[in-house]
Amino acid sequence: MKLSTTYLGLKLRNPLIVGASPFADHLHAASQLQDAGAAAIVMRSLFEEQIDQEQRALVHHTESVAESHAEATSYFPAVADYQLTPDHYLRQIEQLKGMLAIPVIASLNGCRPGGWTGYAQKFAGAGADAIELNLYQLVTDPSRPADQVEADMLETVRSVTGAVKIPVAVKISAFHTSPANFVRRLEDAGAAGVVIFNRFYQTDFNLEEMEVQSLLKLSDQSELLMRLRWLAILSPHSRGSLAATGGVHTADDVVKAILAGAHTVQLVSVLLQQGPRFLSVLLNDLQHWMREHSYESVDQMRGAMNLSRCPDPAGFERANYQRMLQSWRV
Ligand SMILES: Cc1cc2nc3c(=O)[nH]c(=O)nc-3n(C[C@H](O)[C@H](O)[C@H](O)COP(=O)(O)O)c2cc1C
Repeated sequence: MKLSTTYLGLKLRNPLIVGASPFADHLHAASQLQDAGAAAIVMRSLFEEQIDQEQRALVHHTESVAESHAEATSYFPAVADYQLTPDHYLRQIEQLKGMLAIPVIASLNGCRPGGWTGYAQKFAGAGADAIELNLYQLVTDPSRPADQVEADMLETVRSVTGAVKIPVAVKISAFHTSPANFVRRLEDAGAAGVVIFNRFYQTDFNLEEMEVQSLLKLSDQSELLMRLRWLAILSPHSRGSLAATGGVHTADDVVKAILAGAHTVQLVSVLLQQGPRFLSVLLNDLQHWMREHSYESVDQMRGAMNLSRCPDPAGFERANYQRMLQSWRV
C-alpha cells in the first residue's frame, strides 16, 4: 500500500504534516514527531512585524530593538514576547535540517508587500525545503476595498516567490469573495500550493472587566467541514498542491480531506492534545481504512470526492443550501 504523496514538488512518505506551531521550536519534539511518522514539519511563523522591527532597529542603530518597537503600535507583542527572534529562527532552521530527514517548511506571516519578504531568501539560505507564506489579515479600515487587499496579497506572494527557488505554499483565509479565483491568481503569482484555511481566533468580551478577551482555543472536527467543501471545489482546477489545515482529528478526517482533493493534511490541535505518538495511530488507521475500501495508494484516493467526481456535486453548491432549508418542517 502506497502512502506516499507529492506536496509542493517534495516527495513525502505519507500525507501527514505537522502544521505551523510551537512543535518545531524544540529539536526533541520535532524528532519525536518524525519518529512517529510525520512526513514534514512546518515551523511557527516569523512575522512581518518582527522583521520590520529588526530592520528598523538596524537602520537606526542608535536605538535598541525595544525602543524601535515603542514607535510601532502597542497592539503587537513586544519584541521579547516573540518566541523566536529572526536570527534565532534561521539557526533553528539549520538545526532542524541538521537533525531531521523529513522536509522542514519555514513560515513567513504577513500580507503587505515590503522589505520583509526578502527574509524568504534567508530561509532558503538556512536550508528550508519550502516556505509557507501565511497571509493572515483582518481588514478593519473601511477605506480599503477588497480588490486592493487582494492585490497587496498577490504582490506579497510575487515578491516571496520571485526571491527564492524553493517552493512557496500560501496559507489563506476562507473569507475571499471568490476563493477559487483567488487561488488561481495565487498560482499565477508563483505559489506552488495553497493551505486551506487559516483559523481566525475569535475575541470575546469579559463583562466584569469590560475588556476584550482573546483565547486560543484548539480546534474541533466541525471546523474541517468548510475545508472539505473548498478542497472539493478547488481540487479539479488547481494546478498546484492543496493542503488541509483545521479540524483534522481522526483518520476518517484525513481520509475525507484526501478524497476532497488534499495532497497533505496538517495537524496541530490533535497533536497538542494527544502527543506526537498519535501520528502513528492515525497512520495505522489510515492504512486500515484504505485496505477496507480497496485503495492501493493515497494518489488513487485523492480527489475521488471532489466537485467533478463526486456523485452529487450539487451537495457543495447553492442548490444544497436551498435543499437543506426546505427540508425543515415545524
Ligand atoms: C499554539 C498554536 C500556534 C500556532 N502558530 C501558528 C503560526 O505561527 N503560524 C501559522 O501559520 N499557524 C499557526 N497556528 C495555526 C495552525 O498551524 C493550524 O493552521 C490551526 O491550528 C488549525 O489546525 P488544527 O485544527 O490541526 O489545530 C498555530 C496553532 C496553534 C494551536
